[in-house]
Amino acid sequence: MRASLLSAATLLGLASQAAAIDPLVIKGSKWFNSKTGAQFFVKGVDYQPDITSTSAVRDPLADTAGCTRDLPFLKELGVNAIRVYQTEPFGNHDQCMSMLSAAGIYVMLDLSTPTETINRDQPTYDVDLLGYYQSKVDTFSKYDNVFAFLAGNEVTNAYNNTGASAYVKAALRDVKAYIKSKKLTIPVGYATNDDADIRWQLQTYFDCGATTDRADFYGINLYEWCGPTATFESSGYADVVKNFTNWDIPVLLTEYGCNAIKPRTFPEVAAIYGSQMTSIFSGGFVYEYVQEANDYGLVQVSGSSGTKTVDFNNFKSALAAVNPSGVSMSSYTPSGKQQSCPAVAVSNDWIASSSLPPMPSNSTCSCMMKTLTCVSKSTTVPTNAGDLATFGTTVSNIFGTVCGTVDCSTVSGNATTGKYGKYSFCDPIQRVSWVMTEWYNNQRNVDGSCDFGGFAKVQSVKSTDDSSCSSQKDDNSNISSSSSNGESSSSTSSSSSSAATAKTPVGATSMAALSVGVVLALLTTTLF
Ligand SMILES: *[C@@H]1O[C@H](CO)[C@@H](O)[C@H](O)[C@H]1NC(C)=O
Ligand SMILES: *[C@@H]1O[C@H](CO)[C@@H](O)[C@H](O)[C@H]1NC(C)=O
Ligand SMILES: *[C@@H]1O[C@H](CO)[C@@H](O)[C@H](O)[C@H]1NC(C)=O
Ligand SMILES: *[C@@H]1O[C@H](CO)[C@@H](O)[C@H](O)[C@H]1NC(C)=O
Ligand SMILES: *[C@@H]1O[C@H](CO)[C@@H](O)[C@H](O)[C@H]1NC(C)=O
Repeated sequence: MRASLLSAATLLGLASQAAAIDPLVIKGSKWFNSKTGAQFFVKGVDYQPDITSTSAVRDPLADTAGCTRDLPFLKELGVNAIRVYQTEPFGNHDQCMSMLSAAGIYVMLDLSTPTETINRDQPTYDVDLLGYYQSKVDTFSKYDNVFAFLAGNEVTNAYNNTGASAYVKAALRDVKAYIKSKKLTIPVGYATNDDADIRWQLQTYFDCGATTDRADFYGINLYEWCGPTATFESSGYADVVKNFTNWDIPVLLTEYGCNAIKPRTFPEVAAIYGSQMTSIFSGGFVYEYVQEANDYGLVQVSGSSGTKTVDFNNFKSALAAVNPSGVSMSSYTPSGKQQSCPAVAVSNDWIASSSLPPMPSNSTCSCMMKTLTCVSKSTTVPTNAGDLATFGTTVSNIFGTVCGTVDCSTVSGNATTGKYGKYSFCDPIQRVSWVMTEWYNNQRNVDGSCDFGGFAKVQSVKSTDDSSCSSQKDDNSNISSSSSNGESSSSTSSSSSSAATAKTPVGATSMAALSVGVVLALLTTTLF
């Protein structure tokens, strides 16, 4: 009796183990299967198939029918991972995630969306964006096959918007701290574009500074290898790989697969999983699963059915031909070196300070609001496009008018100087309310100076002293953030083409969306 109970329990234990996918773990610059100790190479495909969705944000992992349609194709390709650009923290992802897990497919998730992201030209990072990223971690960290998050995709793409990387890195830092506070170990990285002028600065910036601040891994979207006659050297791959020699964190291709010459035969696959790259790179994700106008697809989907493209068979063959050999976790001693931050100088094509915006705190912003005398009548940013546009114009005009006269640095930030106002991470309503109160005070509270075309109202103050606001504790108080400094921070979510849209290869469909980001773009345009 006792024996059979035991064996039943053992069987159950074994069964549940067999069903679970082995967690991956990073050691040094490599990924490993934590159970077997074998090195893990990502054999992935970028997956965002819900192209007919009319939502501002698409979420293929909440589309059970779509996952059911696509799973046989993913299995046939022989991939062991997908990267998904857009998802939402709400909706039911259980079916898709368990189907993928059962098929041995890991998932790397972008945190940003077209509407919740850092705008490369008017970067801000605020309480709303951090809250959104945290809710995405809450939603997806419960799935055993989620092996990594990305805190940004190609946000900086020219030297003049390198400042945006300070905001991205701050968000990355805070998500890492949040994950740690939940006693989880999912790594957070960044996916970069491949811009010759700034790639070195970018790759060092995301690897420099405190361990708590830097990326856990680094992804490159690389489209240099075009056509069957290119080689590892002639394509430029060799130079890219060489520059990651002795790196201390894993590096992989978050997108690859030039399509300038068609059909694609994927000769780079042999290099990615061969001796030229496996000692430095951890594989990559081919761009992309679904056929779109930009013509990178492996599968043409239509309703509940899919049709393989020529590229599908070519990629499948290329992947089947490789057998990357790595090292075992126990025999591997990391020897890579952390990088120094790039010098801040226009002459160095880099204008992002290593001093990052502090962690946004709702308690600080609510505390500040209680000290204001002139506030926005509305307490929320409108969601429909028309109202949002009106809101943006109004806010923009207020900043333009007021900040020419009074100092608005308390609600703004500058990534080049590394100085961030102590309320710069508050939401747009809170920030504009702070600005209107400054104006109202400047005008000695005369009648009509707190109106702003009916946008504002006078508020009786609940507290006249805001000096304790920056030390307010909130739900984030257990999350220590190494580089928060007393003075400061920057703010607010926004949107841009740098969202978690795929790289914008020629002809790619744009997923620009009017959002809080647009409002903030307007707002900061006049602010700075
Ligand atoms: C960078 O330069 C581009 C092209 O001149 C311009 O459109 C963009 O607004 C600039 N971005 C910033 C942050 O100055
Ligand atoms: C801040 O509060 C807003 C409104 O309740 C919420 O949406 C957001 O997620 C919060 N942010 C953080 C970091 O808790
Ligand atoms: C390699 O790094 C150097 C700086 O050390 C940089 O100038 C060069 O552009 C980089 N090349 C590639 C292909 O990343
Ligand atoms: C940040 O400060 C630098 C140095 O004072 C200045 O040149 C730059 O215009 C400022 N940038 C913004 C976005 O305000
Ligand atoms: C913060 O830590 C305290 C003490 O460990 C705990 O009681 C509290 O629940 C934590 N708060 C959050 C939001 O995790």
